[in-house]
Amino acid sequence: MRKKIVAGNWKMNTLPAEGATLAHEIVSRITEVPSDVQLILAPPFTHLDRVAEAIKDSSAALSAQNCADRDKGAFTGEVSAAMIAAAGCTYVILGHSERREYYHETSATLNSKMALALANGLRPIYCVGEKLEEREAGRHFDVVGAQIREVLFNLTPEQMASVVVAYEPVWAIGTGKTATAEQAQEIHAFIRKTLAEKYGWLSEEISILYGGSCKPANARELFAQKDIDGGLIGGAALKADDFIAIARSF
Ligand code: PGA
Repeated sequence: MRKKIVAGNWKMNTLPAEGATLAHEIVSRITEVPSDVQLILAPPFTHLDRVAEAIKDSSAALSAQNCADRDKGAFTGEVSAAMIAAAGCTYVILGHSERREYYHETSATLNSKMALALANGLRPIYCVGEKLEEREAGRHFDVVGAQIREVLFNLTPEQMASVVVAYEPVWAIGTGKTATAEQAQEIHAFIRKTLAEKYGWLSEEISILYGGSCKPANARELFAQKDIDGGLIGGAALKADDFIAIARSF
């Protein structure tokens, strides 16, 4: 059985005290969420300690939103996978489209980050997804297929087993425009099939999350799809009510 996951990507939002309050609100209502749903909170780096403290007695897990592509040393402004793990993170989001687009992350960068995350015992949440023009040109399968092959195909099966994949069409992120359940299911099935080329039966065990304007009003229909195992939530993760409602949508 694949793990059901609802992960909140807070992006560059909230100050540390607000983040701690939000985390407390979420864990105080965690009993409303089915016990087989793993909640993950991904606050900014500066809040990791406080959020770790807020969720420590709950089943919620902590994630970072990124990690450095180097081990340690003279890399001003970077935060290493080892530091993130030491701060209490179990997960790290890698390859989010905002990182690919604004910070020029390529498959080469992501291969380094992936290796370091895994070496430090973190579970990567690896994001893939096409831009609007790529979908309109009918290239979404090619784009997503390449993002999978160029990074995830370099892993051993043991490493792959600890990866979560998130499909996030760039045109749906923060736009209020969601992929239809059919569009999302079609590409989730494609991702699983692509993973099966390399990893065989293991592809059936990999959780594949949908992200992009996922909210309480559409989560139920999305999560009902055969190959959608949960969501990576941006905007709606900043309100405990919405985040909990989404996690109750399975
Ligand atoms: P959104 O963001 O839910 O605000 O569209 C999702 C994401 O980028 O992870």
